[in-house]
Amino acid sequence: MKERLKELRETSLAAIHSAENTAALEQLRVKYLGKKGELTALLKQMGRLSAEERPVMGQLANEVRSALEDTLEQCRIRLEEQALARRLEAEALDVTIPGETHTPGHRHPMYIVLDEIERIFIGMGFSVLDGGEVETADYNFTRLNTDDAHPAREWSDTFYFTEDSSILLRTQTSPMQVHAMESRTLPIRMIAPGRVYRKDEVDATHSPMFHQIEGMAIDRGVTMGDLKGTLNEVVRRLYGENTVTRFRPHHFPFTEPSCEMDVQCHKCGGRGCPTCKGEGWIEILGAGMIHPKVLQGCGINTDVYSGWAFGMGLERLALRRFQISDLRLIFENDVRFLEQF
Ligand code: PHE
Repeated sequence: MKERLKELRETSLAAIHSAENTAALEQLRVKYLGKKGELTALLKQMGRLSAEERPVMGQLANEVRSALEDTLEQCRIRLEEQALARRLEAEALDVTIPGETHTPGHRHPMYIVLDEIERIFIGMGFSVLDGGEVETADYNFTRLNTDDAHPAREWSDTFYFTEDSSILLRTQTSPMQVHAMESRTLPIRMIAPGRVYRKDEVDATHSPMFHQIEGMAIDRGVTMGDLKGTLNEVVRRLYGENTVTRFRPHHFPFTEPSCEMDVQCHKCGGRGCPTCKGEGWIEILGAGMIHPKVLQGCGINTDVYSGWAFGMGLERLALRRFQISDLRLIFENDVRFLEQF
């Protein structure tokens, strides 16, 4: 019996030491120490021993039992530590693995030009205002001296929200003139960039949505000379010292007198080419002295104050600035195009 106990001790300890996980350990515990385990089976045979042998064997069996129990416990601790170490290693962050690359975007070419223009005007003491794209016909037309019969008010020209033509997507940034006169104290110098909408088909020079920058200055003794001087200076800072401009008479309901400003074509120097459609000049804005009716409608005393306003097309300025030939490229947002700026 002594031999069998020794043998059991050796084989069971070896098995316990080579167990690979705690589940295997538990199986071994049942196998040796459980109710139907091998040690228990041996102890049941003690009855067959002599009275002298019994306590000796009992003691030996107890030693084997506690050796098994101690070893099981030690192995359990060791296996749990190993499992934890393995898990930590598996979950660890490997800082040497190259990170995911995120290609940072950059400003759209049109907004690059807008930033340049804003900076020029801010340097001249202008504020930059922001306005809603949904307007009332009152601000978009009526208060800008544009009567009900004006062609710009046609359903074929304008996106209306209501049957009674009272709410619309603004067709121009000019309503910002009225908003500024109402909300600011004189003198006013402001620009207001933003989107405008007209029922135009898309082609190389048209889009139903485009951007304008409205500009306005109201003060005592403001003249057309101030308007020309300011706009010439802006265009020179934007396109270079030698930029040639001209002002042509025009008509807008809310300015009197009114004009359009052209910049000499950068491609042909004024001789005429496809870029300027053979004209030698490219129109960039409409402008004029603010009509007294518009000023008076906002409670401004026209005996004391006068003002000028302009509205320029931002896409056109961007096309010229970056020598882009087709307006659609501005809106299509093809990364291969945008990456060039
Ligand atoms: N709002 C006019 C347009 O869209 C441009 C303009 C603005 C003209 C301000 C005069 C004064 O064509």
